[in-house]
Amino acid sequence: MDAAKYIWMNGKFVNWDDAKVHVLSHTLHYGNGVIEGTKAYKTKKGYAIFRLDEHTSRLKESAKMTLIDIPYTVQEMNKAQIDLIRMNEFTLDTVYIRPFAFLGYGVMGVYHKDAPVETVIAAWQWGAYLGEDALKFGIKLKISSMTRPANTSNMGKAKATANYLNSQMAKFEAIDCGYDEALLLDDQGYVAEASGACFFMVKNGELITPPNDNFFRIYNTENGYRNGRRLWYKSSSS
Ligand SMILES: Cc1ncc(COP(=O)(O)O)c(C=O)c1O
Repeated sequence: MDAAKYIWMNGKFVNWDDAKVHVLSHTLHYGNGVIEGTKAYKTKKGYAIFRLDEHTSRLKESAKMTLIDIPYTVQEMNKAQIDLIRMNEFTLDTVYIRPFAFLGYGVMGVYHKDAPVETVIAAWQWGAYLGEDALKFGIKLKISSMTRPANTSNMGKAKATANYLNSQMAKFEAIDCGYDEALLLDDQGYVAEASGACFFMVKNGELITPPNDNFFRIYNTENGYRNGRRLWYKSSSS
């Protein structure tokens, strides 16, 4: 990965290499953490963060669902993200922002109520998720043998780190079989989403995406949906 200068950790900016945790941190053992993935795009006026407020709010909602109490407001975390982008003096077109919260050191055993909450925001320069060639030439998508867990088995509506075990296995399988990405079906066999992205398709001239009943609310999808509709109608009417 492309290291940056600073990481925001529990209210303070620390040098990238100093943002460390203890090996007995609760989340390393039991998997309860929440993450976001927010993009900043370079514009003529500097970097613009795409749907900052929505992504930060989704992090707080995910934390609420997995019973993690993040001690910062959405506004405080929004400001930290803006400051972080400025302080890191990025130069490339796209920057990925990863706000997250996890349970730190001090408590062992599954019951996590007394485990300390660590809140962190990192940002680094990161291009297209599946690479530039994928944007130009498309990708090979494998229907996964893994099932997207039902809401009654995992906190599927939360963007929780534990859910990414499912994604990781699906992605590994897809690449091992010569594909680029995995498409997961839900426990009833309906299309859910990819291992780390949402899914769209054009059906009868319309861009459609599955309802996110089984997974978290997807903001880029909503935006992509609107943009996609515009693009689709534009291209089909010209
Ligand atoms: C499993 C999964 N689904 C969907 C998405 C898309 O979410 P967003 O609304 O941030 O585009 C992501 C993004 O990280 C993801 O990891």
